[in-house]
Amino acid sequence: MTVTILTLFPDLFAGYLGSSILARAIARGQVAVKAVDIRAFATDKHHVCDDAAYGGGPGMVMKPEPIAAAIEVACVPGQKVVYLTPAGRRFTQGVAEELAREQGFTLLCGRYEGIDQRVIDAFVTDELSIGDYVLSGGEVAAMAVIDAVVRLVPGVITGESLEEESFAQGLLEYPHYTRPEDFRGRRVPDILLSGHHEKIRRWRLQKSIEKTMKNRPELLDSPALPEEVRELAAEIVREGDGHGRDEGA
Ligand code: ADE
Repeated sequence: MTVTILTLFPDLFAGYLGSSILARAIARGQVAVKAVDIRAFATDKHHVCDDAAYGGGPGMVMKPEPIAAAIEVACVPGQKVVYLTPAGRRFTQGVAEELAREQGFTLLCGRYEGIDQRVIDAFVTDELSIGDYVLSGGEVAAMAVIDAVVRLVPGVITGESLEEESFAQGLLEYPHYTRPEDFRGRRVPDILLSGHHEKIRRWRLQKSIEKTMKNRPELLDSPALPEEVRELAAEIVREGDGHGRDEGA
């Protein structure tokens, strides 16, 4: 997979891409990421990339010409050009899975008030937001997208750990423990020391459901949840064990 980032701040990416799972995926040739400096495509003497907004109002707008030139030179025709913007469609695990199936794609990072609409109309295939808050630019969002997508590329992470993760089954993840067995008087739950795999699986599923009820109850409304999850969720609500909606917690 090849990911092209178009940005006014290409240096921001080196640290993140140079560490941990992403660095390993790049070193193994499973993914190639190139950060392209939009400013290099501005043809005037001072490489100006922004200008005042037509119609007035505060803030500057990114000019269309340098972005268009960067796309035309650096991007593979036919591949997605994703503009990161708080006005985009919400980026979710499902969207990460869609992007992970692509051969490659481009992430376009805005700064200032945004980019000229005509460049969006001409080149952008998708607009994505990583959440309902406004960042200073698309770069942090691009890193989030790259991280979430690259770990889904086959071979980057082993399948088992992906299947257990939050959202993989439509639920939030269960709690994890490692040594020591007793940390400042807080013990690892006995069931995890029992060696009883089926009981551990059910306990983890129960904890996942409880966590989801507490932090993201709307996820439990999904019709895609497996029957076992529905039944256990109903049981938890009945027994009043969870912190579910029925308790108003
Ligand atoms: N650029 C600024 N804020 C953003 C957000 N929340 N998501 C994606 N891109 C952004």
